[in-house]
Formats: sequence, C-alpha cells, structure tokens
Amino acid sequence: MALNVIILAAGQGKRMYSVLPKVLHRLAGKPMLGHVIDAALKLQPTKVCAVYGHGGSTVPNAFENYVITWVKQEPQLGTGHAVMQTLPHLDEGGTTLILYGDVPLVTAETMRALLSIANQDKFALLTVKLEDPTGYGRIVRDNSGKILSIVEHKDATEAQRAINEVNTGIMAVPTEHLARWVSNLSNNNAQGEYYLTDIVAKAVDEGLAVEAHILTRAWESLGVNSKSQLAELERIHQRNIAEALMEKGVALADPARIDVRGNLVTGRDVFIDVNCIFEGEVALADHVTIGANCVLKNVKVQAGARIEPFCHLEDAVIGSTSRIGPYARIRPGTILAEDVHIGNFVEVKNSQIAAHSKANHLAYIGDATIGSNVNIGAGTITCNYDGANKYRTVIEDDVFIGSDTQLVAPVTVKRGATIGAGTTLTMEAPEGQLTLSRAKQVTINGWMRPLKKPKA
Ligand code: UD1
Ligand code: CA
Repeated sequence: MALNVIILAAGQGKRMYSVLPKVLHRLAGKPMLGHVIDAALKLQPTKVCAVYGHGGSTVPNAFENYVITWVKQEPQLGTGHAVMQTLPHLDEGGTTLILYGDVPLVTAETMRALLSIANQDKFALLTVKLEDPTGYGRIVRDNSGKILSIVEHKDATEAQRAINEVNTGIMAVPTEHLARWVSNLSNNNAQGEYYLTDIVAKAVDEGLAVEAHILTRAWESLGVNSKSQLAELERIHQRNIAEALMEKGVALADPARIDVRGNLVTGRDVFIDVNCIFEGEVALADHVTIGANCVLKNVKVQAGARIEPFCHLEDAVIGSTSRIGPYARIRPGTILAEDVHIGNFVEVKNSQIAAHSKANHLAYIGDATIGSNVNIGAGTITCNYDGANKYRTVIEDDVFIGSDTQLVAPVTVKRGATIGAGTTLTMEAPEGQLTLSRAKQVTINGWMRPLKKPKA
C-alpha cells in the first residue's frame, strides 16, 4: 500500500539569523532535515516529498544522495498551501504522513504509532499536552472527548486558549481525502494563511473519525526556531544517546558530557571519560578506554586499547591493547596493529605500524610503513615531502631509530638496523648494523667565554 511522507521545510527561520536555511542547521552533526528524513525512511515509504522554498536549491542539494521528490513552494502561504503543492506528486491511495523539517527529534516509533491509527476512514493527529500552550494550535474536543477541530492560537477564543492539548503538526491522513480537503482550504483567518489544520473540521463534517496519539515524550515534538532551541534539542538528543549507551553497558564518567555526532558502536566494558566527541562511524571494541577530552572521527579502536586524554584521531584503526597519548594526533590513513604505543606530541599520518612498535615522544610519522618491535626515538621526523611530492619511509622489523633522526624519504631502514641519534638518513640503512650521520664531536682547548665589555 502506498505510504507518502510529506516533509514541510519551506520556512525561512528568521530567528536563526543565518544565511543557511533553517532545516540545514545541524543537530548532532547532521542537518535537522536529515534527522526527519532518516527517521521517515525507516517506515519504507513509497514516496517522500519535501517542500522547500527559502534558501532555494541549497536544501535539495544537501540531500543529493536521497530519492526525494522536491517541491518548491513560493510564496509560502501556510502549511495547507505547502501540502497543496505536493498533491500532484503523491502516490495514490494509502496514507500520507506529514512531518516538519524543523521538528527533528520525532522518532520512527511515534510515526508508526500514528500510522497504526490511520485508515481509510480515520485520520490521526500527533498531539501533546503542554503547561504553556501559547502559540500552538489547540485541539478542540466535545464533551465526550471526540475531536472537533484545531484552532490556531491567533484565531482562538479565551476559552479555547485555556486548552492545553496542542497540535504538534504531525499527522497521518488517508491520501484520497487529504487531496480533496486540501484543495478546498480557504485563507479566511487571522493570519490570512491556508491552514492545514482546517482539514480536521472538514473530516469531522464528513463524519470521519479523527483520533489523537498523545505524546508522552514531549521532546519529540519540539521545534527549532532559534539557536537557543537548537542547543536545547542538541542536549536532549545527546542525553538520549548517552542513556542508550549506558543501557548497553558503556560506562560514561558523565552522561551530560559526551557528544556523538554520528554512529558509535561499542563492545563490552567500554569506559568513556568526560568531554569526548565521536564523529562519523566510530567503533570501540571490548575493554576500550577513552580518556577525557578526546575527539574520534571515523575510527576503529580494537579490544583493550587505551586512548589517553587529549587525543585527536581521524580515519584510523587502533590495534588491540595499543596505547595512544596523552596529546597524540592520529591522522587519516593510520593503521596501528596490536600493542603499539604512540605517546605525547606524536603525529602519525597515512602510516602502518606493526605490532609492539613504539613512538613515545615528540615525533612525526607520515607516509611510513613500520614493522614490528620498532622503537622510534624522541624527535624523529619522516621528511616525507620535498615541497612538491610525497614519498614513503620504510622501517623494517626490530629497528631502533635514535632520537632526533630525520628520515629523508624515499628511504628504507632494513631489519634490525640501529640509527644513531641525530642522524639525517638519506640512503638505505643496511640490516643489523649501526648507521649514523653525525659531525665529529670536538673540544676546543683553552677556549674562554667572551666577557662583557665594561660600559664607557
Ligand atoms: C503550525 C500549526 C499549529 C501547530 C504548530 C506546531 C498550522 C496552521 N498550524 O503552526 O497548529 O501547533 O505548527 O509547531 O499548520 N511551512 C512551510 N510552508 C508554509 C508554512 C510553513 O513549509 O507556507 C513549514 C515550516 O517551515 C515549518 C512548518 O511548516 O516547518 C510549520 O510552520 P510554522 O509557521 O512553524 O507553523 P505554526 O504557525 O507554528
Ligand atoms: Ca512553528
């Protein structure tokens, strides 16, 4: 059966004070509208229609990879007018679910609950009871509790304004009736707009039942009109994610101080200290510990690894039982095998490091292939860039690189070699031997420190 989803997203969002259209502002790293679309797609709709207007094609362009029918509404004459624009594009029959692009936290579960109420002769409204219903459309019921209409705040009488059950705007309507009702809306009201909410009275007039699903989790219906509301929803969303993580057994030092902007997959006995940010796809295997103030973006951390505080990791794999940081930077293309130690102020980029190797202090490892049981001394640098091209450094198993070595790539250090401290390595270092480049140490006999000249 046809299931249409209409997402209203033409509003400007004046109070965001931004050139970016409101629905593209990000919540948990994803545009608000993306949250609505992704939740709706879980219902496997036959058609998704999004109504855009302000910001022009920037809104559709942000969702190029989705199969969505974009409908432009210009000018914007109200929610009913917005739905009117979609009518020629809807799949016939079945149900149409109407969502708002600026109400990003509504869950697929709630959408399903609404859809389970709606059928050919019944339409379903998502409502919520608010302590302060100011500004919202009120749900008007008769003495028996039957829904009669929705009255917008600006059109409501004092008595109606006392009603605290309000319209969230989200509804599921039999498509066949929706088309007829919406085509016959008028704009004879306080705002001179075509109100979608007027279809409720039309349904009641025709003897159809209108039923409400009353939200208990009021946050699902919260809309965003300002940066302050966006921040409020961000906190609610992050708190929900933190709760879900803890329910799966993740230990969080403080559920109020974690931000997940993507997908965080966790194993058993994972511990996350305060102020960590997880972006994109992050996987933390069993017994992983993340220290305070770390940022991980598209990273796999394998079992038992420890990320110490203040580390930044991106597009990388951290092998099991490895120890990273504190203060380490792991850049894209880094793949560390098991039990690798990367210490403070070490930067690793596009490099593979095999098991049990260590770079514990102050080093730059870029475009390098490093074997197992290698020790990289403090201050070591791979000179991978000649100003035009990048070259690889290869360090084989069991190598010892003395402190303050520069490895001028392309260059190879053969298995078991030792490189003396301070070496500038420009040619291959042979297997098992000590290689070093160093000016001979001299001592000048009888040398004296200069003395300060007496002032004239
Ligand atoms: C609407 C409802 C109100 C409900 C409230 C919940 C109507 C007439 N009123 O009021 O009952 O309590 O939402 O927040 O429906 N939009 C368009 N094109 C337009 C107008 C709006 O796409 O021409 C979009 C907006 O971008 C927004 C949504 O529809 O996402 C709601 O519009 P908004 O102006 O916020 O509606 P309200 O007047 O708040
Ligand atoms: Ca609104």
